[in-house]
Amino acid sequence: MTTHKVGYLVGSLATGSINRKLAKALVRLAPDRLEMEEISFRDLPLYSYDYDADFPPPAQAFKAALAAIDAVLFVTPEYNRSIPGGLKNAIDWASRPYGMNSFTRKPSAVIGTSPGAIGTAVAQQSLRSVLSFCNSPQMNAPEAYIQFKPGLITDDGEVTDQSTAEFLRNYMAEFDAFITRVYTVIPKTR
Ligand code: FNR
Repeated sequence: MTTHKVGYLVGSLATGSINRKLAKALVRLAPDRLEMEEISFRDLPLYSYDYDADFPPPAQAFKAALAAIDAVLFVTPEYNRSIPGGLKNAIDWASRPYGMNSFTRKPSAVIGTSPGAIGTAVAQQSLRSVLSFCNSPQMNAPEAYIQFKPGLITDDGEVTDQSTAEFLRNYMAEFDAFITRVYTVIPKTR
């Protein structure tokens, strides 16, 4: 069985993050072919190109983790109609030093949840623009804007609503198929 290693980034650093609950649900619902692992950006300092000549250890570890995966899944909240600053900082680290962009040709997908009805749609569009510049082939469809209602997903990632669970299961199956399609055209170098 061909497997794909998927690293996922949770855009929120909050203890009670609803996006972390969503990420846990996606791990549970992903097809067996996907090996899911979180890539944390919590310990990264604020990026400056002064670091480019000598990345600090947390940034080196972050880049190494991205190099070891086949695809990246962003599970992010919307903060002020964009992505949280911590996530943007992590992407900036990943994109540098110049010529060593970790996202180039790395397939990606974006998903997120918020209590609001548009379910992170604006943040996702913002993130898609950033990922386009970073030359990441993105899964265009299905899109997934998840409105979080209390109890929708338990702390350990069980989805309590059956139709939402099926939607998320299909989303992950589609991501698996998308990753396969990308690497059919561009063989893996990892
Ligand atoms: C928010 N929230 C929010 N929600 C939204 O749908 N659109 C938005 O632009 C914002 N903006 C925003 C800014 C800041 C600074 C905070 C703290 C929150 C509400 C947000 O969706 C809610 O707090 C979620 O719980 C955030 O997801 P996590 O961090 O719990 O995963």
